[in-house]
This record gives sequence, C-alpha cells and structure tokens, in this order.
Amino acid sequence: MSPSFASEATRARVRREGRWNGAVTSRALPDSSDEVAALAPDLRVRMAKIWLSQAATEARVATSFGRIHESLVALGADAGLIALSARAVDDEHRHAALCEELAGRYAGRVIGPHPTLPDAGPQHPRATSETQRRALWVVGQCALNETFAGAYLSTAWRGATAPLARAALRELLEDEVDHARVGWAFLASSDASIRDQVSDWLLPLAVCNLRAWRRLDLPDDQSLAGLGVPQRSDAHEALTDALRGVLVPGFAHVGLDTTALERWIAQGAPV
Ligand SMILES: [Fe+2]
Ligand SMILES: [Fe+2]
Repeated sequence: MSPSFASEATRARVRREGRWNGAVTSRALPDSSDEVAALAPDLRVRMAKIWLSQAATEARVATSFGRIHESLVALGADAGLIALSARAVDDEHRHAALCEELAGRYAGRVIGPHPTLPDAGPQHPRATSETQRRALWVVGQCALNETFAGAYLSTAWRGATAPLARAALRELLEDEVDHARVGWAFLASSDASIRDQVSDWLLPLAVCNLRAWRRLDLPDDQSLAGLGVPQRSDAHEALTDALRGVLVPGFAHVGLDTTALERWIAQGAPV
C-alpha cells in the first residue's frame, strides 16, 4: 500500500532509516472511504487521535529496536537473530507510517507527523555488567513487550469488525509475533550464565512491562471494539492470559526460574 494520508516527514524517515520500498503493508489496505464516511465526526476525530498516538509509540519502538540490534551484535548473538532485529527496526518504522495512514484516513486529511516521544528505554542501573544490561533489554523488549503486544493486538483484531481496522491490526500483529521470537530465540540460544543473569530480573521486568500495558488509555465499554480498540477489561484479561499461558511456560522452557513470577501472578499480578 502506498500511503496517501501518512505525513511526508514520517514517510521520509522510513525511507531514510529503514529499507522501505514504498509499501507500508504487505497487502493493500481496503478502500475505507465509505466505512469512514459512515462514522460520526466526533468518532472520526477520536479514532484519528488514537492512531496518531499509536504511530508515535511505534516510532519509539523503532528506536528501541535499534538498541536491541546493537545489543545482539555486542552479545555475539546468532546472525539470524541480528538480521531479524535489523528488520524489526524497519518494521516498526513502517508501523508508524501505517498508523499515521489510518489516523489520516479517519481525519480525512494528513494530520501527522506524529509527536516524537522521549526514548524512555530502561536504564537498569542495578545491572552488574554491560552484558547483563543488554540481555535485559533484549528480554524486556522482545520476549515481554512484544508478547504482550501480540496478546493485545489479537484481542483488538478479534473484536474488530471494520475492514480497515482488521487489515491494519493483522499487519501489525504478524510482525510483532516475529519480534517476540527474537527474545525467545535469544534466550534459548544463550549460555547458562546469561540465563542465570536474567532469571533474577524476570519479576521486575514483567511488573514494569505489564504496568505500561495496563496504563493504555482504553474505553470502559465495547463502544470502539468494532473499530479495533478493545474494552479495557478485555485487554487486561488478554495480558494476564499471556503472562500465565505464554510468558511463564516460555521462560520455564528456556530454563529460567519462574518461581517469583508465578507467586506474583497467583497474587493477581499487582503492578
Ligand atoms: Fe510495532
Ligand atoms: Fe514490534
């Protein structure tokens, strides 16, 4: 899809920093003119704001994946993982352009560029080495954050009935699943000393990550579910299910100690 409602500034950044061929989705987005025209003006404004905000978040994740890529190189990770993390930078830039495209379609005009969010990447000041700090970045961004993203997007996609939202959410979801795999494959291929250094941090990493996801500004009801914005309680349930059903078994599978994580989940995963 060649975007027509994404801002020139964002398209230029994608071209500059990624390997963009001009398409921000692997399949064409549906023609949404009738779908969007049928919405009330205030709803269109609200949806435009939601997608513009999402564009800003995606761009920040692109910066974060730049750090993940550097870290995987520094950690001597598998070449395939290093390549996948480089592609993730490109993916996240394309996601930003895709989200701006949706924002523009709802607004009926280009409303980007999206704001630039501060890169609030975790510093992990108590990490005892650069190796540990880098491993924590990879696990926090990929295994945790991208797995939560997958859970959130799956719920959003299942509830969405609007063709435009379904197409965009599917595009995002397919990439986030690959991004999560970077974290799992990194852990599975790391030596025991790296895994030991990550084990003690699983609980704080999960608490911080889940806290950020639970802070998402979501409706109390199903009013936007058809447009791909789930009710808060549904999203929170999906996140908790991912914690219990994907993250704990996944970390245990690669040999990490999940005792503290499981105890926290049994207490309701307070953040
Ligand atoms: Fe993304
Ligand atoms: Fe991602």
